[in-house]
Amino acid sequence: MEKNEILKINKTYWDTNADLWFGTTALPEYGVKFVTEEDLHLFGDVSGKKLLEICCGSGHSLKYHADRNAAELWGLDISHKQIENADSYLKEHGYTAKFICAPMEAEAGIPTEYFDFVYSIYGIGWTTDLLGTFKKIASYLKKDGIFIFSWHHTLNYCVAWSCTERKDIIENDMLVFNKSYFDEAYFSMPVDGSEIILCNRKISTYINALAEAGFVVEQMIEQTDDETMKSVGDNSSKTKKAKMLPISFCFKARKL
Ligand SMILES: C[S@@+](CC[C@H](N)C(=O)[O-])C[C@H]1O[C@@H](n2cnc3c(N)ncnc32)[C@H](O)[C@@H]1O
Repeated sequence: MEKNEILKINKTYWDTNADLWFGTTALPEYGVKFVTEEDLHLFGDVSGKKLLEICCGSGHSLKYHADRNAAELWGLDISHKQIENADSYLKEHGYTAKFICAPMEAEAGIPTEYFDFVYSIYGIGWTTDLLGTFKKIASYLKKDGIFIFSWHHTLNYCVAWSCTERKDIIENDMLVFNKSYFDEAYFSMPVDGSEIILCNRKISTYINALAEAGFVVEQMIEQTDDETMKSVGDNSSKTKKAKMLPISFCFKARKL
């Protein structure tokens, strides 16, 4: 499928369904059943810093940084509706940010060598051009600027419970590979009566693209949160899976 067609389908999904996702997957959370910024402190002190969020969604992560005295906040998203929601949400709380409605793959007039941090919470995986996007992000950052992003863990899409009957309660079932780890082809997924197009990239694809774009990886995190790991008596398929493998991952990289 053509990349522009993929962007069009995904933009339509987000413009139509933005309200369903208001405030979900935003800092301090990095992802599903995953350690949070409160555990990890990947950003440290952002006071006086310039930050750009790629795929800013409803603006809740921007507000998280505004609450911590960031000097300048920018948000980019492909969806007009998400940008509208983010703008109103920040204004309601007495904050402002500069918003850009564009695909992360595009030239969007963002200043270069300008930001201390560029970050994305469950956004980067939507790109149709991983290396091109990482190169753009590197260009926006100052030297030694930090890029932080989280996404679905690759294994999560490859491994499923073999149980066919009770999807909600798993007793003695096994996790099985139902998709090749090496398969990076785009696939269509039905969601909320609509459709999205994604692909599942190998971890090495992310690491090699970061290296080629001029980053050094400082940390990669693939840790289920303590509450989930220590929970007893919760037999839900999600919790049991999250105890066996990472559902999300997060990278912290520095521009060389
Ligand atoms: C899971 S949401 C991110 C949630 C966000 N962290 C929040 O706090 O709302 C994914 C976002 O990526 C945006 N998106 C999808 N494809 C994109 C692309 N190619 N370029 C820029 N934004 C994109 C969507 O519009 C959506 O807002």
